[in-house]
Amino acid sequence: MTTFRELGVLPDICDALERGGITTPFPIQEMTLSVALMGTDLIGQARTGTGKTLAFGIPILQRSIAPHDPDYAELPQGKPQALIVAPTRELALQVSGDLALAGADRGIRVLTVYGGVAYEPQLEALKTGVDVVVGTPGRLLDLCNRKALDISRVHALVLDEADEMLDLGFLPDVEKLLSKTPETRQTMLFSATMPGAIVALARTHMRHPMNIRAEHSTDSAMVPATAQFIYQAHDLDKPEIIARILQADDAEKIIVFTRTKRQAQRVAEDLAERGFSSSPLHGDMAQIARERALTKFRDGKLRVLVATDVAARGIDVQGVSHVINYTCPEDEKVYVHRIGRTGRAGATGTAVTFVDWADLHRWKMINKALDLPFDEPQETYSTSEHIYHDLAIPKDTLGRIVPPRPDGPARSERSDRPGRSDEGGTRGSARRERPARNRERTRTRGGQKVAAYAEQPAASATEQAVTDAGTGERSGQSGNRTRRRRRRSSGSGAATGTTGSAAS
Ligand SMILES: Nc1ncnc2c1ncn2[C@@H]1O[C@H](COP(=O)(O)OP(=O)(O)OP(=O)(O)O)[C@@H](O)[C@H]1O
Ligand SMILES: [Mg+2]
Repeated sequence: MTTFRELGVLPDICDALERGGITTPFPIQEMTLSVALMGTDLIGQARTGTGKTLAFGIPILQRSIAPHDPDYAELPQGKPQALIVAPTRELALQVSGDLALAGADRGIRVLTVYGGVAYEPQLEALKTGVDVVVGTPGRLLDLCNRKALDISRVHALVLDEADEMLDLGFLPDVEKLLSKTPETRQTMLFSATMPGAIVALARTHMRHPMNIRAEHSTDSAMVPATAQFIYQAHDLDKPEIIARILQADDAEKIIVFTRTKRQAQRVAEDLAERGFSSSPLHGDMAQIARERALTKFRDGKLRVLVATDVAARGIDVQGVSHVINYTCPEDEKVYVHRIGRTGRAGATGTAVTFVDWADLHRWKMINKALDLPFDEPQETYSTSEHIYHDLAIPKDTLGRIVPPRPDGPARSERSDRPGRSDEGGTRGSARRERPARNRERTRTRGGQKVAAYAEQPAASATEQAVTDAGTGERSGQSGNRTRRRRRRSSGSGAATGTTGSAAS
């Protein structure tokens, strides 16, 4: 097996990665690193959650001159050496965090800039001098126009979620930014989805880019270890179904995606009132509240994040067992990125999509574009027997874990179950409203055996770390998330196939 060192990664970066538990390169990293480290332009495509961040993060850090390097004094003062552009504030922060981890020993100064927060700290940091800037297009451009940020000397530029960055909404800003950087720069584009038209457009901004795909072009764009279920459901019944899914045997953290900000707010409040710690995450919230919600979710202090598409791309949270689409996503790309919030880095995941009657046509388009077998979503209610089989929900489950409050719905974020402290633990203790069950069982449907769990002998490193960090409640259930499972698809009656183990 190739190591980071063998791919030419500097020892101080390898050491820092190792301390973060990252020892063996993932395929996209193995395929791109040696090329990227030479300064070649590239377009990297790999499924969600397969390590694209470090595929560009490592070369960015390694090819930037560090303060302890002899050439550092010759650099133009105060001008960043590299620029990374991301579509959302939360993603920019997360990418910076990954760079900080990998670059811990290199002393490269990384600054994150994004809107919705005060200018002063960003202006201050820019004055002091930074080496790598990670940001969202609007604020980056803003700072350039104020002459606080000078990107005329960057040697490398990355567009993370490149197809989104080159799509209509962002394109004008991104092109303006590109025009302010040197033409000789290295340009790297990464995404799980790269439509041909976008690749063609991208090439006009690049120099002989290499196209690198971690999987075959005919392979599915989705992570195979994520089981997908598509249900035709009634709006009023959806919170009830979600509340039951939250009590499924394998339910940990859950992200619910809604179409609108108001819907995110309402659903979060509804779930909170049912006793599940939930928060909305959408663009109408103050930036500080957005960050607080995501941090609590990462830390396991919230089980449910009800988000608009601000959280659809790139966001990496450990322990997200389920993604639920409250309504049918806009298109197949949105679907792929949203469900990609689960099943990351080799973990298994479950994606449930509710399709309203009015959206059936839209769903069929997505189904066809992704070559999925769910052309006729099954009509589904919270009482429908098949969801209990499909999603491993215990039979006696109800749609709430606290009695209804006489004073109406609770405010979200204040909804931790009274008298219980286990909602607020560390990672891995995020769920546990009910005791774990024996999962080695066979589910039946219509008298026919359709699915079975077989425990894996050992948990993956990630799983072990999560278990250890938790309260210990999960000891004795090793392999919980790494088990092999076979699940039945909804609608078409075709099996989704055996999903592999999580070990990567
Ligand atoms: N070589 C590795 N070994 C172990 N874990 C890794 C490795 N590389 C990345 N990871 C972890 O895998 C997870 C997913 O990585 P990352 O967020 O970079 O995925 P991505 O491909 O950018 O996904 P998306 O398309 O959703 O943005 C992260 O938690 C990251 O720390
Ligand atoms: Mg990413």
